[in-house]
Amino acid sequence: MQLRIRSISYLAEDVLGFELTDPNEHDLPRFTAGAHVAVRVAPGLLRDYSLCNDPAERRRYCIAVLKDREGHGSNRLHEQARPGDLLEVSWPRNLFPLADQAERHWMIAGGIGITPFMAMIAELKRRRADFHLYYCSRAPERTAFRDELSLLAAMGRVTFHYDGGDPAKGLDVTALLKEPPPGTHLYYCGPVGLMDAVARAATHWPPRTMHCEYFKGPAAAIPEMVGEDLPFRVRLVKSGGEYEVRADESIARALRRQGVRVDTSCELGYCGTCLTRYVSGEPDFRDQILNPADRKRFILTCCTRAKGEVLGLDL
Ligand code: FES
Repeated sequence: MQLRIRSISYLAEDVLGFELTDPNEHDLPRFTAGAHVAVRVAPGLLRDYSLCNDPAERRRYCIAVLKDREGHGSNRLHEQARPGDLLEVSWPRNLFPLADQAERHWMIAGGIGITPFMAMIAELKRRRADFHLYYCSRAPERTAFRDELSLLAAMGRVTFHYDGGDPAKGLDVTALLKEPPPGTHLYYCGPVGLMDAVARAATHWPPRTMHCEYFKGPAAAIPEMVGEDLPFRVRLVKSGGEYEVRADESIARALRRQGVRVDTSCELGYCGTCLTRYVSGEPDFRDQILNPADRKRFILTCCTRAKGEVLGLDL
């Protein structure tokens, strides 16, 4: 779906907040705490961002974007995106949900890994649940949402931990996780070093109480940088007909424009709704989900293009 950047705000050093809304001010698809969306930050380049606003809000999605010094993706949002611009955004997807049955929730965030926890905290406050957030960052000025969380810190529900960039001064997760309090679920999200440290320190925790989400740093990003978009044709072998796909449209949109029904959802190569078998031609894959075996038989009509002039589809 296309969403408009309603506002951009400074959250911390190298971190900007983007508020995204429907261009016609309609409600957005619902999301649950811990969900993320994929954003097309450049042609062929998707990045995942956790939604950090209250899931009860229907009119906006908020994401926090750390500037990517390696030059993949997020820096484009920092340098090029402006309020009023349209962005292509997937439907929300949640791979990091809150447990329904827990006596208490402990959350450990590292840096920009704070984002899913902001939505979780809104939800946990609504549930009047018992929670505590341990929030690790380099320094106060690099701590997004610090003001919002300060009140909770004063109430003893948030602990800030600053390491000054020295891993030796990081949060002592071994001591923290030594005794799993009964009924406690643990959630953690942050850079790889923190994730590894928490996983090592919590090997004796019951597996069903452990929840984590690896955020993709620059090295883990899937750049999917692609060549120039050229027009091609699709041949529908079952129903007959050959249709032009213009350089600036997907197969799905081209077919729809020419009266052929195609189901799509995210339109970002992300959800699999538009999965279609192909029978001839050489696809130019630009998705995030098909593995090599899938790619021998299927394409995603929302994003796959063709390397040759014609692609034959089993439609
Ligand atoms: S519509 Fe979601 S992958 Fe194509």
